[in-house]
Amino acid sequence: MREEDTPPGTAPCAPGHLPLLGHLLPLLTRPVPFLQSLADHGPVVRIHLWRRPVHVLTDPELVHQLLVRDAAKTEKGFVFDKARGLLGNGLFTAEGAFHLRQRRLVQPAFHRDSIHRYAALTARVAAAAVTRWEPGQAAPIEPRMHRLARDIVVEALFATRLSHAQKARIDRAVPVVLTGFVQRALYPSPLLEKLPVPANRRFDTAVRDLRTVVDEIIAQAAAPQQTPDGTLLSLLLTTRDKETGLAMAPAQVRDEAVSLLLAGTETTGTTLSWFFHELARHQDLQNELSEEVRAVATDGAVSPGDLPRLERTGHALSETLRLHTPNWILMRRAVAPLRYGGVLLPPGTEILFSPTALHRSPKLHPDPLRFDPDRWRHPADRTPPRLFIPFGAGRHKCVGESFAWTEMLVVAAAVLARLRLRPATATPLRESATAATIRPRGPLLIAEPR
Ligand code: HEM
Repeated sequence: MREEDTPPGTAPCAPGHLPLLGHLLPLLTRPVPFLQSLADHGPVVRIHLWRRPVHVLTDPELVHQLLVRDAAKTEKGFVFDKARGLLGNGLFTAEGAFHLRQRRLVQPAFHRDSIHRYAALTARVAAAAVTRWEPGQAAPIEPRMHRLARDIVVEALFATRLSHAQKARIDRAVPVVLTGFVQRALYPSPLLEKLPVPANRRFDTAVRDLRTVVDEIIAQAAAPQQTPDGTLLSLLLTTRDKETGLAMAPAQVRDEAVSLLLAGTETTGTTLSWFFHELARHQDLQNELSEEVRAVATDGAVSPGDLPRLERTGHALSETLRLHTPNWILMRRAVAPLRYGGVLLPPGTEILFSPTALHRSPKLHPDPLRFDPDRWRHPADRTPPRLFIPFGAGRHKCVGESFAWTEMLVVAAAVLARLRLRPATATPLRESATAATIRPRGPLLIAEPR
């Protein structure tokens, strides 16, 4: 399909369309450069995933309109239709009035007081983890950060500790589930899900394992005397429907817990991994942040009241979220007519945009691929909020954003006060896009006492 064939009022088709496959090849093999390149063809560009047309928004103003102004005219789209069938109807996948009700219910678990409690336990869990790192040994940072993020979320939201076997099952299951539901949504026929091939078996086992562990967590913590007030689980277990007076069905409690585990571990784990890789490459910056932390708390055990003083550490985390935005694609579907950039998108149109591509646009950020926390130094020059959307925007904006910021700052402080990180080899830092996040592929890091 050539651009000149595009009728007026419809979006141009991106170059590189192949019969049958559409644009799947560039999207799978070089996703971010491909999505970035679409901005050259207009604010709204059509791509095809197999034969399914998907409209890509490349202009941050239009993305803001989609997420905020037109939120009521959209739902989450075909990938989340698939996820709902496979993973249940938790906050992560829910839509419409049901989403709103569940969101009101879950939100108090992320209020200030709760986050202060989570900060204290994050400091404890992070300090214990850091003391187990062997000084001078080269090790990959990613599994460490993913394990830490998993422990923090489970303890904070469910006030329970896991056995080694439960932890291992979660660690195996989460990445498989997060990539698997997107892959299944992209299958050209649902019949392919039934084929007894390794990918399908791995996914089915991972979903089963995740549900089993979450059921065990709920059973472990469900006895009222064992569920401290204010945890997410106590909220879910004690809430009553205003009209019927009924408790939440056990399957719904499980769906919410699965939702939080999926949404709250891979994202923070990946961001912290990138953060420490960048600091290992920028020793001067690492020393500066370490001094900042130690001026606040010599042992790195910072409290919520200390966090505003970790200004430069915050700049470096913002820069990490800009350059290495974990959620590189977000999606919606029109449920009412939408008009963007002169293009009419009728109900049913699938819409996609890439926060990562927007955050790397040279029009918005000079020298966009350079890791430069100084971009965040002067509040007056700060990127306008609508151009910086690592946590999304509008009614589906990340419910865990404040928790994530607190968690990442507290973990950063625990590491930077005690250890110096350096790359073990000159291996370049590369990125590897999974369907869920863009993960770092870089050198092992050596941690030495400061
Ligand atoms: C660096 C860390 C994180 C990033 C970058 C991040 C990013 C995001 C983004 C972009 C969305 C919006 C998705 C959309 O609009 O389709 C989202 C939603 C969500 N996030 Fe996060 N997240 C992070 C951490 C967390 C944590 C720690 C939790 C919970 C423990 C969490 C729970 C959720 C949930 C439940 C949703 C769905 C909200 C809704 O639809 O109402 N996230 N997140």
